[in-house]
Amino acid sequence: MSRSAHPAGPRHADVLPEGHYSPPPTDLNGLDGRVWSRTVRRAEGRGPDGVVSVGGIDVRRLAEEFGTPAYILDEADFRARCRAWKDAFGEGADVFYAGKAFLSRAVVRWLHEEGMNLDVCSPGELATALDAGMPAERIALHGNNKSTAEITRAVEAGVGRIVLDSFQEIVRVADVARRLGRRQRVQIRVTVGVEAHTHEFIATAHEDQKFGIALADGMAAEAVRRVLGLDSLELVGIHSHIGSQIFDMAGFEVAARRVVALLTEVRDEHGVELPEIDLGGGLGIAYTPEDDPREPHEIAKSLGDIVTRECAAAGLAVPRLSVEPGRAIAGPTTFTLYEVGTIKELEGLRTYVSVDGGMSDNIRTALYDAEYSVALVSRASEAPPMLCRVVGKHCESGDIVVRDAFLPADLAPGDLIAVPATGAYCRSMASNYNHALRPPVVAVREGEARVVVRRETEEDLLRLDVG
Ligand code: LLP
Repeated sequence: MSRSAHPAGPRHADVLPEGHYSPPPTDLNGLDGRVWSRTVRRAEGRGPDGVVSVGGIDVRRLAEEFGTPAYILDEADFRARCRAWKDAFGEGADVFYAGKAFLSRAVVRWLHEEGMNLDVCSPGELATALDAGMPAERIALHGNNKSTAEITRAVEAGVGRIVLDSFQEIVRVADVARRLGRRQRVQIRVTVGVEAHTHEFIATAHEDQKFGIALADGMAAEAVRRVLGLDSLELVGIHSHIGSQIFDMAGFEVAARRVVALLTEVRDEHGVELPEIDLGGGLGIAYTPEDDPREPHEIAKSLGDIVTRECAAAGLAVPRLSVEPGRAIAGPTTFTLYEVGTIKELEGLRTYVSVDGGMSDNIRTALYDAEYSVALVSRASEAPPMLCRVVGKHCESGDIVVRDAFLPADLAPGDLIAVPATGAYCRSMASNYNHALRPPVVAVREGEARVVVRRETEEDLLRLDVG
C-alpha cells in the first residue's frame, strides 16, 4: 500500500498505546499558535511556495546556512514572554528566569535588558550569567548539593540570594560568608507536601525526594531557628518549587498557603516577619494543541490573591513575591529543524520517519514520555495525513522524537520538518550520545539570523579525548 493510501483510522489506532491517539488535524499546513513561537508563519501558496518562516526568515535558508538539526530561537518571542511575566507580576514582585531551561550569553543579555532576574543552579550557569553581565545581585543560586567551592564563588560574586536546601548547607553557607566577612541573603527551600500532577521525575514538593526541607515534621521551622541564629546569614524568605509542566493552579495555592503558615509561625515564635516568598517555577506550556496552559496574568492573579488573602487572615504584611518560570518563557520560543532522511513503512503497523537528530537533542520523549507535535515546514502539502513515528538516528529503539504524529503522506527524504516547543530542556539536556555533535542554537529576529550557540565539531569531541 502506498503511503498516500494510508488513511489515519482505527487500524492505526489499534497499534497505538492508550492516550496516544488523537484524530488527524484537518489542516496539516496549519500552524497552531499555541505551540509555535509568535513570528512563525507559513507563506500562502502550494508546494515549495508554502514554506514556513520565522522572524521573517525562510526555514530553507536557515537549513542551508546553519545546517540541520538546529534549534531555531525566536528572539522577539523570548523577549515578549519575559515582558508578559514581568508585566503580569508588576513592581511588587520579582521574576527570576530559571536558566536550567536554556541558558546562553545572548539569553542572559536579553534577560538583563528586559529587567529580569536569573535563577542558576550550577557553577556553569553562574559563570555564564556573570560573564554575560547579569548583575550578581539579580542572581539566585539553587541546588541540593552545592559544594563549598561553589558557595564561595557565589558569595564572592555577591549573588542576591542563595536558596538553602539542607541543614548541612546552612552551616556551609554561613561559614563561607563569615570567612569572607559578608552577610549573605538566603531563603530556605521547603517541601510543602503537595503531590503535583506531573511526571514523577519532575515533581518536587512531596516529601520523599532529595530537594528541600520538609514543612510537615517541623524541620523547616527548625531550619529557620538555626538560620536566624547565624550572624553571617540574612534570612529573607521561604522558597517552594512544587514541580514542572503543571497546568493546575491548585498545587501552587496549597503551597502558598503552607508557606504563609510557616511565615506566621516564624512571626509568632521569633517576632520576625520574613519579607519574601518564592513560589518557584513549573508552569506548563503547550507541546501539542491539546495542552491548555495558563497565561502569566492569570497565574500572577491567582498566586497574588492567595498570598494576600492568607496574609490578611494571619495579620501579616504581604511579603514580596517571586517566581521562577523557565519552561514557560523559553519553551515555546524555539523549534528544532530536522531534515527527513529515511522513511520506513511497515504495512498495517506503523511508518517510521527518521530525522538527522534524535534523543541527543531531545531526550524528553524518551525520558518523560513527553508528547510533541511536528510539521512539514519546507513546503505545503495537499496530501492526506499519514500517522507516523518520528525517530532519530541513534542506536537505540527508544530514540523517539515524536511518538505519534501526523505528517503529509507525500513526505519524502530531503523535506524539512520542525518540532515546536523545544526551547526548554532540550539543548540544555542535550548529549553526545553516539558521539553526536550537539546542534547550534540560531536566534532569529526581524530578518536576521545569528548563531548564539554554535554547532559542536568533531574537533570539540576529540579535544576532550586526551588519549
Ligand atoms: N525553580 C526551581 C527551583 C526549579 O527546580 C525549576 C526546575 C524551576 C524553577 C523551573 O521550572 P520550569 O518553570 O521550567 O518548569 N528536565 C525537566 C524539567 C526539570 C525542572 C527542574 N527544575 C523537563 O524537561 O521537563
